Amino acid sequence: MERSLRAQADTVIAWERYRAEFPIFRQRTYFNTCSLGALSTRVEAAVRQFTALWDASGAAAWYGPWSAEIEHLREEFAALIGAWPDEIAIFPSVTTALTAVASAYDYRERPRVVISDLEFPTTVYQWMVKESSGVTLEMIRSPDRLAVPVAEYARAVDARTQLLVASHVYFTSGAVQDIAALAHVAHQHGAHCLIDAYQSVGQLPLDVHAAGVDFLITGGLKWLLGGPGIAYLYVRRDLASHLRPTDVGWFAHREQFAFDVTQFAYADGARRFEGGTPPVAAIYAGRAGIGIVAEIGVSRVRHRQIELVSLVVEEARRRGLRPRTPARVEDLAGIVTIPRQDPTAVVASLARRGIIVDARPGVVRLSPYFYNTPEECTRVVEAIANLEKDGVA
Ligand SMILES: Cc1ncc(COP(=O)(O)O)c(C=O)c1O
Repeated sequence: MERSLRAQADTVIAWERYRAEFPIFRQRTYFNTCSLGALSTRVEAAVRQFTALWDASGAAAWYGPWSAEIEHLREEFAALIGAWPDEIAIFPSVTTALTAVASAYDYRERPRVVISDLEFPTTVYQWMVKESSGVTLEMIRSPDRLAVPVAEYARAVDARTQLLVASHVYFTSGAVQDIAALAHVAHQHGAHCLIDAYQSVGQLPLDVHAAGVDFLITGGLKWLLGGPGIAYLYVRRDLASHLRPTDVGWFAHREQFAFDVTQFAYADGARRFEGGTPPVAAIYAGRAGIGIVAEIGVSRVRHRQIELVSLVVEEARRRGLRPRTPARVEDLAGIVTIPRQDPTAVVASLARRGIIVDARPGVVRLSPYFYNTPEECTRVVEAIANLEKDGVA
């Protein structure tokens, strides 16, 4: 008993210590990680290290520390999702990663891409603009705007489907999708499964091999605390070895530094999807951000998230704010949406009070992370309820 109390106390102290690494909390109640994770002193120091190496060594920074940093990042990201380092390619955005994947297919035999209307727009646009060259976009409508039942995908996928594309966590609702079930649906028909995990990696435990997905994309902006300019693509090892992306650059070449323009030979593994010079400042920031998440441990982050998210939902319900959530808290990640008539006005009013939240059409999005406190969860919801009382929105 005494030991378990001590363990609990240790946990409390640890959260405070991590929170202290994020200076924004001295000024603001930051509740918007689903848009952009807060800046930590560790990430700031890593970017300074990047510039110091540039200053001290010029181009020689490439051949030693910068190149090593890229490979460390590849390894550490791979470990976070249960992959091998050679299954990871690095990009400056999720969109560029998607473009590389989309370029690896000949859509003539299998023209269909199954997707839902809850996806982030960039994911849909990637294939929508290819409709004029023969791709058929099969758009599933979410029945409740929260999630998409796996059965709907099972109905939509067939022998002419090339890819099933879906989010692990939906950006407008925070609902968690069963990605192992989606991979199974795709594979039953010989299709491949691509998961947009931008809203999940970091806050949800993930094992890509166990889930059986073919591709998974995510980036540094949100739950990985690395800021903009860095994105990751996982490609299943045996798939990577025979796909031939056509949107590539010199980093995708087997012998990049041979400078041989007479032939192109694909690198082994996911690297064959890469393009040009990687965003090294963002790589330093990205690695430092992942370091924080890995040090805490994703399972611990998830426990904390369940505690904070449950509190937000409970407080919102108690005040009659009707949060839009799945029935079970386990099916919800760190995003709680509250319908408002004028979400932008709510965001602006809260910002004037030092509370940072986010809006999407029809809803205010609240996204606590491990660095937030239970007191903040109550305060943010209370502030929204008070705005309603004051007739703001
Ligand atoms: C779920 C999801 N997918 C994709 C993106 C866009 O990624 P990028 O701007 O790196 O292409 C976002 C960004 O907010 C997102 O939330």
